[in-house]
Amino acid sequence: MHNIIIAIDGFSSTGKSSFAKLIAARLGILYLDSGAMYRAVTLYALNSGYITADHTIDEAALKADLDAGKVEIAFVRNEETGKYGITLNGADAETRIRQLDISGNVSYIAVIPFVRNFVDNLLHRYGENGCIMDGRDIGTAVFPNADLKIYMTADPAIRAQRRLDEMKAKGETASFEEVLQNVKERDYIDSHRAMNPLRKADDALELDNSHMTFDDQMKWLGGVLKERFGIDF
Ligand code: DC
Repeated sequence: MHNIIIAIDGFSSTGKSSFAKLIAARLGILYLDSGAMYRAVTLYALNSGYITADHTIDEAALKADLDAGKVEIAFVRNEETGKYGITLNGADAETRIRQLDISGNVSYIAVIPFVRNFVDNLLHRYGENGCIMDGRDIGTAVFPNADLKIYMTADPAIRAQRRLDEMKAKGETASFEEVLQNVKERDYIDSHRAMNPLRKADDALELDNSHMTFDDQMKWLGGVLKERFGIDF
């Protein structure tokens, strides 16, 4: 079972990472968050002054640093919690990469072909011996031969409300309209970029969780694992 590769793709705020983390724990396989890699590259670019306020990227400078090996991104296991977290040049970046300035810039970094190649290489290095990985192009580009592909969707207004609830829980404020606008903007960028845009792989199973609870989704998955692999989940 350890060599199984499960690819989960979908729009932002569809609950991919919570779903993937729980599956990883239940199956005892590695969970890898590909979006975190793009976020870490964005953090590097911001720290280096390569992104302007209007999201223009100094691509030449970023490429030179990536090529020179100046950007070291790793998934490191925390011995106390047993969880994997991302590091940038040796420093823990797990909290920093989730902050708003990173979320606001990452789509612009993720459209750059040499960045996608850089991240793809890392994802292969970490994942090829078995994992569950979530992102936008895992089943279509990173692991086109994954054993199981799931494409998650949900109504944009429902995703915006979920995001708003998460933000409120962290003490951040925003209006529903603002968040919905951001959700729609990211959907558009993710699904319209030239290289490896978000789309459902032909052999992916679609999971629309607009009106599903977390338990409903786990039950759905249990059925799939039983039918496909004979696994009692
Ligand atoms: O899932 P997330 O919000 O952490 O992803 C961050 C960004 O990275 C998002 O704009 C889409 C992009 N991304 C991507 O282009 N390809 C992936 N496989 C994963 C994320």
